[in-house]
Amino acid sequence: MIRHRLHFAVLLLLRFCSPAAAITDATDAAALAALKAAVIPSSIPPFSCLASWNFSLAADPCTTFLCGISCSADGRVAAIVLDGAGYSGELPAVISNLSQLHTLDLSNNFFRGTIPHSLAFLSNLRSLVFTSNRFTGPIIPSSFLTNLSSLQTLELSSNSFSGLIPASLSSLSAISILDLSHNRLTGPLPSSLPPNLITLALRGNLLTGIVNRSVFESLVSLEVIDLSGNRFGGEIEGWLLRLPKIQQINLANNSFAKWEVWPAGGRGDELVAVDVGFNLIQGQLPANLAGYPSLVALTVSHNRLRGVIPWQYLGQKNGASFRRLFLDGNFLYGRVPPELIEGGMTGSFGDNCLEGCPLASALCSPRQKPGWICKSVYSGDGRRRQGDTMGV
Ligand SMILES: *[C@@H]1O[C@H](CO)[C@@H](O)[C@H](O)[C@H]1NC(C)=O
Ligand SMILES: *[C@@H]1O[C@H](CO)[C@@H](O)[C@H](O)[C@H]1NC(C)=O
Ligand SMILES: *[C@@H]1O[C@H](CO)[C@@H](O)[C@H](O)[C@H]1NC(C)=O
Ligand SMILES: *[C@@H]1O[C@H](CO)[C@@H](O)[C@H](O)[C@H]1NC(C)=O
Ligand SMILES: *[C@@H]1O[C@H](CO)[C@@H](O)[C@H](O)[C@H]1NC(C)=O
Repeated sequence: MIRHRLHFAVLLLLRFCSPAAAITDATDAAALAALKAAVIPSSIPPFSCLASWNFSLAADPCTTFLCGISCSADGRVAAIVLDGAGYSGELPAVISNLSQLHTLDLSNNFFRGTIPHSLAFLSNLRSLVFTSNRFTGPIIPSSFLTNLSSLQTLELSSNSFSGLIPASLSSLSAISILDLSHNRLTGPLPSSLPPNLITLALRGNLLTGIVNRSVFESLVSLEVIDLSGNRFGGEIEGWLLRLPKIQQINLANNSFAKWEVWPAGGRGDELVAVDVGFNLIQGQLPANLAGYPSLVALTVSHNRLRGVIPWQYLGQKNGASFRRLFLDGNFLYGRVPPELIEGGMTGSFGDNCLEGCPLASALCSPRQKPGWICKSVYSGDGRRRQGDTMGV
């Protein structure tokens, strides 16, 4: 038994000590050559990774290429991680011959064209990273979806992908990181998303519609949601801040008109940061936010919020106190509690209808709105003045 184990250990050692010793599988070597051949030669700078891939020698990729690939002990290409040297060209379909590939990272280049359908054969693929290239077409051809069951990371941000986010994406149940930011995606959110998502980034697209509870309530692992810079509208509903694992929510630069915050009620314990800036949100600053114990960063800049800064944000804040508070560009009134200004906070209370905010403090710039604007906002809308001092 012991001898057996020793033998096994030696085998393991051999595998890990000489990972590059094996001659590259011939199909893999041919596919790598085809990949290099598909890259426009003038886009390959002299000292880049691809320049060093010399297939004209009897050189073997797994044993002699010093960068850009890594191989398994049996001579299969396991990862391609190219340098961002500015390579241009279209991905050849034959890349699917690299059947053991688990990582394909081409980020920060000028690769263009559509993602080849043949990528669907890469059933061992765990990480697909095409960030900052010039890919076009649909993010993922529907033929993709059956085989990529190992895919954990799909990062396609900063390209020119267009079309809808297909609901069939949710069949890729291993995906935990989905980043489709800064493309030209349109339409509403799909009716479902991959169930094990941890990070969802759809920032900077042309997405429309509402943030639908039925899409998110099954995402029990979701920690980060970034939908900023789209055209979402309607109400930000109370369930959102209470997703079980949620830490960061960014809905800035959309057209949300209403924000409802439910009492934390034992959920949302890990919520650290919320940004709903640059929307059309009316109503008051939600006092219930003070009940979220880890919430330290709040941005509501440039909305249509009225009323006072809730007293709950100070003394009654559950757990950690606010450390970043951007409330600028609303119609908040009343006195800014001195504790907020003196307490080493980052943020802004400027461009509101507040009083007691000394311009000498960086927190108070830009200056408050002119008195006539504040008066017109707080009179004639049926709101009682209740003896509140406008102070402007
Ligand atoms: C890709 O694999 C197929 C099947 O093994 C083979 O017929 C074809 O020649 C390969 N292509 C290249 C460029 O190696
Ligand atoms: C590859 O290596 C051969 C032999 O050293 C050399 O003649 C050739 O110029 C190299 N090709 C490239 C593209 O560097
Ligand atoms: C999935 O991969 C298998 C081989 O690994 C292939 O025969 C099949 O066509 C692939 N499915 C799709 C939808 O590409
Ligand atoms: C929310 O999504 C579900 C499922 O896609 C759909 O049936 C429902 O109509 C959507 N609700 C709204 C208000 O769009
Ligand atoms: C929203 O847009 C404003 C103005 O263009 C910009 O300053 C801010 O950084 C944006 N916020 C986010 C989260 O994208």
